[in-house]
Amino acid sequence: MTKLLLSLHVLAAIVAVGPVTVAASMFPPAARRAAPADGTDPGPRAAGTVELLHRICRVYAGLGALVPVLGLATGLAMGVLGDAWLVTSVFLTAVAAGLLIALVLPRQGELVAQVTEGRPVEPRSTVQLAMFTGVFNLLWATVTVLMIVRPGSTTGA
Ligand code: HEM
Repeated sequence: MTKLLLSLHVLAAIVAVGPVTVAASMFPPAARRAAPADGTDPGPRAAGTVELLHRICRVYAGLGALVPVLGLATGLAMGVLGDAWLVTSVFLTAVAAGLLIALVLPRQGELVAQVTEGRPVEPRSTVQLAMFTGVFNLLWATVTVLMIVRPGSTTGA
């Protein structure tokens, strides 16, 4: 049972968090290209790309909720929920999720509206979004390393 839960947990992390990482990292430059500061025509597909990237982030972020749920179930089955490495991981996962829900996704939504309505996009807003996205990526990468290294753990390899 533990092995099944752990497999599903890791699968969910790969399938859900992977696409969010890629799409969210591609979003700020795509938004910049879709609304060039010099007023040149970005082409008909630019706004569609920005919308699609935002939809990938939203949908896969929803799927990503499975990662902590399955992670907690795995931790419960293994009896490691009180371990320091896991408590730290839960905290960092919560910060990453909060960052995605409170800052990254809403700001992407604002930029999608600006781009599709043909309103100018301030370079500062895409730079700020790129920064939040970078911190999000760093947080979950840290969690992945913690999950593998498990500092202080005496169970497993
Ligand atoms: C609430 C958050 C989380 C909890 C409670 C949790 C819990 C766990 C547990 C108990 C294990 C088994 C460790 C072992 O074999 O001793 C594990 C493994 C793993 N977790 Fe998580 N996890 C969480 C979030 C995440 C996130 C956000 C990611 C990556 C996006 C992730 C990626 C992994 C990976 C790759 C492994 C396999 C490590 C290995 O077996 O070498 N986890 N997790």
